[in-house]
Amino acid sequence: MPPTDRVLVFDTTLRDGEQSPGVRLSLREKLEIGHQLVSLGVDIIESGFPISSPGDFESVNTLAKELHGVTICGLTRAREKDIEVAAEALQPAERRRIHTGLGVSDNHLEYKLRMTREQALELGIKAVKFARQFTDDVEYFMEDSGRADRQYVYRVVEQIIAAGATTINVPDTTGFTYPNEYFHLIKGIIDNVPNSDKAVFSCHCHNDLGMATANTLAGVMAGARQVEVTVNGIGERAGNTALEEVVMALHIRSDKFDATTRIDTTQLLPTSRLVSRLTGMVVQRNKAVVGANAYAHSSGIHQDGVLKERTTYEIIDPHLVGAEKSEIILTARSGRHGLKHRLAELGFNFTDERFEEIYDRFLEVADTKKEVGEDDLRQLVG
Ligand code: KIV
Ligand code: ZN
Repeated sequence: MPPTDRVLVFDTTLRDGEQSPGVRLSLREKLEIGHQLVSLGVDIIESGFPISSPGDFESVNTLAKELHGVTICGLTRAREKDIEVAAEALQPAERRRIHTGLGVSDNHLEYKLRMTREQALELGIKAVKFARQFTDDVEYFMEDSGRADRQYVYRVVEQIIAAGATTINVPDTTGFTYPNEYFHLIKGIIDNVPNSDKAVFSCHCHNDLGMATANTLAGVMAGARQVEVTVNGIGERAGNTALEEVVMALHIRSDKFDATTRIDTTQLLPTSRLVSRLTGMVVQRNKAVVGANAYAHSSGIHQDGVLKERTTYEIIDPHLVGAEKSEIILTARSGRHGLKHRLAELGFNFTDERFEEIYDRFLEVADTKKEVGEDDLRQLVG
């Protein structure tokens, strides 16, 4: 169990993230990302789904051998064969976790699993007991918890903890819930399940309605102490909760949370760039925390503010996430202060009169372009 003020970061970039359409990572690439996740300071790396293919088995097994100071986790269905294979793949790990589970919503039970609630619960209990023979660190996922009947969820949690699960994953698999609903889902479990103090509750949210980060943070507010996240938020469909967003929200808004992570935030940008390069998933420019525009200012009013005092428009110091500095981007909306600053950066200082001439020419050029770059500025000043 983590201390009450610690939120464990469970990174699933290599499992749920790799499920993004179009993404395929080689073993060497997974290992490179795995090493970077260790430098970042994540607590658990979900490295794959060992029974799904020989390649996935090999990646989980290799990461289990090569990575130190972190728990390596493998995903399974609630089946003995899956669990045996995962246990074998995880065998060399310093610390290993088996992540097993089953759907809990009536939708999944009826259409996907074709089982009654009782049958599914019985299978889940068996799977947890079986997994406990290989490790005392067993996580149980209740797939589609976000759309499940609350009373059934409470019953599952109680019996699954009694069977030996140490972490209970509460996935909003379809990204259906809103933050207040997810808060009450987690809080309801903690308050209503008699043995809830015997497990860590984990938030695993998908981003179908753009709520993944907000839901995860709501879960932490309700008492969850593990977050399941991916770098850059990559994952099935609209993706998973973005690691960098949750970590920075907990850091910057520490007034709202009584819990922190052990992430080295200066590794966030290098990790984001590595994952983007190796997966080919481009990070949108305006992406929170790690987007190219996240510390860039283009309007005259904003540039004037940040040049006088950074905190006027920036709540995150770029150094904190491993970025070099804030940027002043010159566009037709920029003002004198921004232009003077960029010219000074290039080593140009002018009298007021000469500067006014340059500024007029700058506006003419800026009206014809998206951005006035360094070469344009050099031409402008002759
Ligand atoms: O979204 C989900 O429910 C999952 C589980 C397999 C944990 O990814
Ligand atoms: Zn998922």
